[in-house]
Amino acid sequence: MGTFTLSPLCVLSLFSAAIFPANLGGQRAESLREATRGRFMIGAAVTAAQLDRPETADLILKQFNHLTAEYEFMPLFMETGPGRFDFKRSDRIVDFAHLHHLPLTGHMLCWHQITPQWMFEDAEHHPLPRERALANLKLYINTVVTHFRGKLDSWNVVNEAVSDKPLEYLRDNPALRSIGIDYVQKAFEFAHAADPNVPLYYNDYNVEDQAKLPKVLRLIRSLKKEGVRLDAVGIQGHWYLDYPDSDLIDACIVTLGKEGLKVLVTELDIDVVGYEGADRYKSGIPADVLNQEAKRYASLFEIFLKHQDIIPVVTFWGLEDGQSWLNYTPRIRTNYPLLFDRRLNPKPAYHAVIDTLSRK
Ligand code: XIL
Repeated sequence: MGTFTLSPLCVLSLFSAAIFPANLGGQRAESLREATRGRFMIGAAVTAAQLDRPETADLILKQFNHLTAEYEFMPLFMETGPGRFDFKRSDRIVDFAHLHHLPLTGHMLCWHQITPQWMFEDAEHHPLPRERALANLKLYINTVVTHFRGKLDSWNVVNEAVSDKPLEYLRDNPALRSIGIDYVQKAFEFAHAADPNVPLYYNDYNVEDQAKLPKVLRLIRSLKKEGVRLDAVGIQGHWYLDYPDSDLIDACIVTLGKEGLKVLVTELDIDVVGYEGADRYKSGIPADVLNQEAKRYASLFEIFLKHQDIIPVVTFWGLEDGQSWLNYTPRIRTNYPLLFDRRLNPKPAYHAVIDTLSRK
């Protein structure tokens, strides 16, 4: 038997093969969009202001290949008075997306927040009669979906309709109180009628929760039974460093996939401060917390990769830490939930995601 020797060049290439991904020809991916190529699209929720600022617009274009408008598509900003529509800011986002050939999801058509009160309630907060509320919802959805017909990749039609309360199925909200339990179905029907070609999604948070998932399934099945067009379920992905358990997220994606639906991760971020308590990272975040966040993101992307056949898009809820909604909701706190810091520099979490995607 001859002796097996390795030339220095060979050692070097074996070494780099262990570090760098085979699928990228030995190169570490230079962006999220490069690292996710062939797996799923990688999106960000953006604001019109970010698109107008060269530094943030450049970062968006370098890293992402799918967009959602963070708030410009919300009903309160679209229908500024009964029958009065304002598409200025939302059109700005559509124009940017088209110019750069980026698919754009419309977020959203029916939600219990950021919606004009008069749509479902009178001035004293009493529910409107069903027919009036339905007419308001129909006018809204028909006008908006028609305005954007042929321009969007998809619509999140109904947002957060399922209740978090153990004994309640659908959330007790103004739409439900005025229209009744079929408001979800009606919203989907109005959207489909206005644009029969656009994919329609149901979107919610805590979908992986063991008490909530059965209710989401119940809603999905009832919509399908009614013959409603429903292409995918969006799991928002507003998660924490160690909650929920990764296994629950994995299991949730499997369960939804078995319903024959695509699963989108629509609003990914990791709250490192916590829902309650002090503003503890006001003057900076310790390196070990950034590393924990990196590990958490790596394990999430392991899961997304595993299910890439049913996950078409993974979207981050924001671009950089400073602008994230988690700095001001539900209270003011200095948060660090995304892959880019306040100066737009990549964080350890960014490198961990790139490494995870590059290794596979
Ligand atoms: C948030 C936005 O980030 C904020 O800018 C806005 O003021 C309120 O809504 N679930 C959703 C998103 O579906 O629309 C929410 O976004 C975050 C929770």
